[in-house]
Amino acid sequence: MTRYFSEADSVETVNARVAPDADPRLAQVMSSLVRHLHAFVKDVTLTEAEWGIAIDFLTHTGQICSDTRQEFILLSDVLGVSMLVDAVNNRKPAGSTPSTVFGPFHVDGVPEREMGSNISLDGVGEACLFEGQVVDMDGHPIKDAIVDVWSDNADGFYDVQQPDIQPQHNNRGIFRTGADGRYWFTGIKPVSYPIPDDGPVGQMLCHLGRHPFRPAHMHFLVSAPGYHRLITHTFVAGDSYLESDAVFGVKAPLIVDFEALDTTQDGPRWRAAYDFVLPPST
Ligand code: BEZ
Ligand code: FE
Repeated sequence: MTRYFSEADSVETVNARVAPDADPRLAQVMSSLVRHLHAFVKDVTLTEAEWGIAIDFLTHTGQICSDTRQEFILLSDVLGVSMLVDAVNNRKPAGSTPSTVFGPFHVDGVPEREMGSNISLDGVGEACLFEGQVVDMDGHPIKDAIVDVWSDNADGFYDVQQPDIQPQHNNRGIFRTGADGRYWFTGIKPVSYPIPDDGPVGQMLCHLGRHPFRPAHMHFLVSAPGYHRLITHTFVAGDSYLESDAVFGVKAPLIVDFEALDTTQDGPRWRAAYDFVLPPST
């Protein structure tokens, strides 16, 4: 039977076009997306002008993307979608370290550094010792865990945002644990920073009366054969943006007291100790 479009039957009319031999998962995802999109349009009685603004917004979001700028990830992040996708895909056992948002500033190809190295290549910022252990659910050390870390510099920018100012791989490093599962390296105490807010996503936040700041954090990607890969941060306790992170990444177990060290001695001014607990991958 031919089905013409009507407001009442809009969802069924569109979804009836999906071919019976379409990939079943694709059909499921797209049918659900159509159902929710149509419900949204009906819920707010979306005007033609508003839909035009939305199309312009998405157009600008695509146009500002480049090799070093991913505005769609920012959009996903500020809408809470990145954290929700993370949540539904990383339902982990109690006692394991929680995951959080990946963000757009991870870089592949960073050199593996000797344990204990200083990742602050420009030497700017308050030196901080990061240390701890990678362990399994029973507290046993995990050997050969790869600890991939990255943070902003003292001005709140990642190296890839300032290729003409910061050395390549500034505040980044990859470390491999030994038999004791321990990691340690020197970096800087991270500072809070605004996510890139000079594009359409920043404008949207501004119109909504939302600030673009993230609380200070160090990124960690911890992986080991046979264990669930962990993408997470440690957050600096006391940061004023912990309760209003622009991308909703904060989880209470990830907030760490950065301990002030004796500044009359040479060496780092701060110490951040944190253990990562990985569940098995099966
Ligand atoms: C980050 O933490 O690097 C980040 C996360 C989401 C959006 C922008 C930056
Ligand atoms: Fe970050």
